[in-house]
Amino acid sequence: MEPKISCENIREAIENLPMLSPNVSRLLQVLSDEDYELDDVVNIVKYDAVLTAKVLKIVNSPVFGLLNPVTSLERAISYLGKWIVVSIILSDNTGDLFSQPLEGYEGQQNALWRHDLFAAFSCSEVARLAKQSFETELAFTAGLLHDIGKFVFAPFWKQAAPEALKRIAEGSITDYLAAERALAGMDHAQIGYEMAKHWEFPQPLQQAILYHHTPQNAPEEYRALAFAAHIGDMCAMMAGCDTGNDGMQYPLDNGYAEYFDVTSNSLAQILMEAEAQFKKAISSLSFEEEVD
Ligand SMILES: [Fe+2]
Ligand SMILES: [Fe+2]
Repeated sequence: MEPKISCENIREAIENLPMLSPNVSRLLQVLSDEDYELDDVVNIVKYDAVLTAKVLKIVNSPVFGLLNPVTSLERAISYLGKWIVVSIILSDNTGDLFSQPLEGYEGQQNALWRHDLFAAFSCSEVARLAKQSFETELAFTAGLLHDIGKFVFAPFWKQAAPEALKRIAEGSITDYLAAERALAGMDHAQIGYEMAKHWEFPQPLQQAILYHHTPQNAPEEYRALAFAAHIGDMCAMMAGCDTGNDGMQYPLDNGYAEYFDVTSNSLAQILMEAEAQFKKAISSLSFEEEVD
């Protein structure tokens, strides 16, 4: 029997998502601006005592091995870099969005965090190889958020996933995204896009989320960013940081060559760099005890 997933129920789940705190929305806006300054980030964090305490606690954790404790938020943020600050703020404001196990994908606890962080670092590396001017900050954030749709979709997808995997294995459906559309009427990229609209993410992030598996279809002004997210996503899967049963079940769009100087050599370099940063990030984030 054909599994039935109601798009209406999915849309209702999105509408019922709590709104993000103003801090997250502001931070995402700031980081989407090419000319943002460190002060802009500091000004968002410093009025929030809990976030300030978290940032200082992380920078002074043994992972960084600093001889003298850092007590200024400015120094802490400049030392840690924007990525960890975004991660801290997002993990603080989105509840279990990134940490909850992804049921339908058979993803373990924190699988989405690990996948998205690895993708984010890869996206930054890819952005450095852009053939035209490109915002690396935006690429990082796009990588971090590209799969948020899986959070809402995973519980619905549970009932259809076995059938999807069967059809992909027998060849009657070409890839995982097509399977989601065929069996649920929507895929996780479209669901992520609806979430991004609900949370009023900046337009480039909304588009990167929507087109991260189909970058060629993105409007021209967002296409390079969508390709960065696409390759970053692939890198995370290649590194074994997938979200479960959909690992490497998506086609690679070679159109990236128009926007980035990514060759097999540079790809190996991207993976190495991303892995080094990923390991550092994982060990300094608050869920360190829960990951292997
Ligand atoms: Fe995805
Ligand atoms: Fe992904």
